[in-house]
Amino acid sequence: FPAENIRNFSIIAHVDHGKSTLADRLLELTGTIDKTKNNKQVLDKLQVERERGITVKAQTASLFYNREGKEYLLNLIDTPGHVDFSYEVSRSLSACQGVLLVVDANEGIQAQTVANFFLAFEAQLSVIPVINKIDLKNADPERVVKQIEKVFDIPSDECIKISAKLGTNVESVLQAVIERIPPPKVHRNSPLRALVFDSTFDQYRGVIANVALFDGVVAKGDKIVSAHTQKTYEVNEVGVLNPNEQPTHKLYAGQVGYLIAGMKDVTEAQIGDTLYLHKQPVEPLPGFKSAKPMVFAGMYPVDQSEYNNLKSAIEKLTLNDSSVTVHRDSSLALGAGWRLGFLGLLHMEVFNQRLEQEYNASVILTTPTVPYKAVLSSAKLIKEYREKEITIINPAQFPEKSKVSEYLEPVVLGTIITPDEYTGKIMMLCQARRAVQKNMVFIDQNRVMLKYLLPLNEIVVDFYDSLKSLSSGYASFDYEDAGYQTAELVKMDILLNGNFVEELVTIVHKDKAHTVGKAICERLKDSLPRQLFEIAIQAAIGSRIIARETVKAYRKNVLAKCYGGDITRKMKLLKRQAEGKKKLRKIGNIEVPKDAFIKVLKTQ
Ligand code: GTP
Repeated sequence: FPAENIRNFSIIAHVDHGKSTLADRLLELTGTIDKTKNNKQVLDKLQVERERGITVKAQTASLFYNREGKEYLLNLIDTPGHVDFSYEVSRSLSACQGVLLVVDANEGIQAQTVANFFLAFEAQLSVIPVINKIDLKNADPERVVKQIEKVFDIPSDECIKISAKLGTNVESVLQAVIERIPPPKVHRNSPLRALVFDSTFDQYRGVIANVALFDGVVAKGDKIVSAHTQKTYEVNEVGVLNPNEQPTHKLYAGQVGYLIAGMKDVTEAQIGDTLYLHKQPVEPLPGFKSAKPMVFAGMYPVDQSEYNNLKSAIEKLTLNDSSVTVHRDSSLALGAGWRLGFLGLLHMEVFNQRLEQEYNASVILTTPTVPYKAVLSSAKLIKEYREKEITIINPAQFPEKSKVSEYLEPVVLGTIITPDEYTGKIMMLCQARRAVQKNMVFIDQNRVMLKYLLPLNEIVVDFYDSLKSLSSGYASFDYEDAGYQTAELVKMDILLNGNFVEELVTIVHKDKAHTVGKAICERLKDSLPRQLFEIAIQAAIGSRIIARETVKAYRKNVLAKCYGGDITRKMKLLKRQAEGKKKLRKIGNIEVPKDAFIKVLKTQ
């Protein structure tokens, strides 16, 4: 294929606006997949993707398209739509020259449409707006055309109106791809320069790296070097994705495909790495910012005897998802486990669900926290810790106030798009979450776009759900990283009759301490069994008690139930009680069952 007949493009959209459906139609129109089959979301390969109807891992497909006697190679790089995976979106975009920006004709521009547009705009890609679902009864494509003009400054005549579901006008999308997206600028005669933009792990074949060739050619048998690790490999196989792997003799500059070269795990094929031929070093392509985990949570096996199984399941899953960070951790209440870092909450849920579905593992996941920082106050301390700022991912490591000049918390810039009637309620929600409004514009007569600076900690738990429920599902939300801000953080302890409960230490913002403390005390009260004496549950900051609940005393005599004297029944009861005790932990003289900890620590 001459490079001028190649187009590399991506489809970007807000969740559910029809990206995968459009991809299916494009695959059919170009004969890549059979029309007669039931083609639903062919590119969504993971079980969780099909179930949730979302794309998590970007997939790639090469399409062949004949137009006016000319054969074109169109490389379609699918991208996830959700905010947690915007890292994967920018990765995919770096291999493209253009994008199809799909917008639902009924819902119009949503928060992720805006976020995705700017990722493409900053990468200087050609943007083709595609208004989808024009078959819907409530579709109002003209209104969406105006929004696109207003928010993105794209002239109305550039919008293509389609129904991906019915196939209406999809042909003109292909035409626009050829006419409006420039071919890749490449040099076939220069030495190989290939960008690794994704990688997956296959049990039998090792790492499969998805590559975009900027210069040169690569073939089976070539010796290649990773610019990142400087390791040399021999290429075992190259090919295109159709969308399944199809081996070819060579891959040429301008093409997108895959390469297998005996790499043992995905860290050897770092995303953003440049591959070149042995003894022909080149200037590496600009890499990506590596994905930063923003949400941390503890993960423990429900039963400690499952520890090794869970360990190997986590190892296997992270082979395919290098954006998850894993550190060993242990908790007095929950035993040995890990502290995992995720890109966001959905990422965490998806990881958990994949563990359960693909590896049959059942786990306890603790309430997520965000990475706080503490700036140390003296040169002596900086020397001792060997850094000026310490990142705190575990409340147990929280340095006391006397050592710290200030605490910092991560913040994000959030975009909310909502019908005007919900603006008031949304502003109240944001205020309650310590958010600062940055901007507010009308994108049409009755839709508003709000921008807020929000502490990440305030949105990790239930912000999105609250936003959805108070707007009857109409508001959409997306966010981008906005660094750190000073925060008045405090360490909150939980006490049972005056004894510290180590596993329940929490870091909270001063203004939220009372609410959070009260909630923990209440949950503990509901899950602690009554004992022979009264139990005081307290939340405290230093020596100051900020919340309290009481569990009344209860004389528990299980044998009382068995007056009648059935000895076997008595034995059974005693045995069951003894088993229950094994799972208890003693705090002072109070017996706390593992279940009570799980109820307090677990994500709701
Ligand atoms: P994510 O992968 O989660 O980002 O979603 P997506 O953007 O890939 O959306 P998907 O293609 O899964 O479509 C979402 C829903 O909209 C599905 O139920 C589709 O059947 C439906 N849909 C897609 N295109 C059309 C269309 O043109 N008309 C109508 N009526 N429904 C459509």
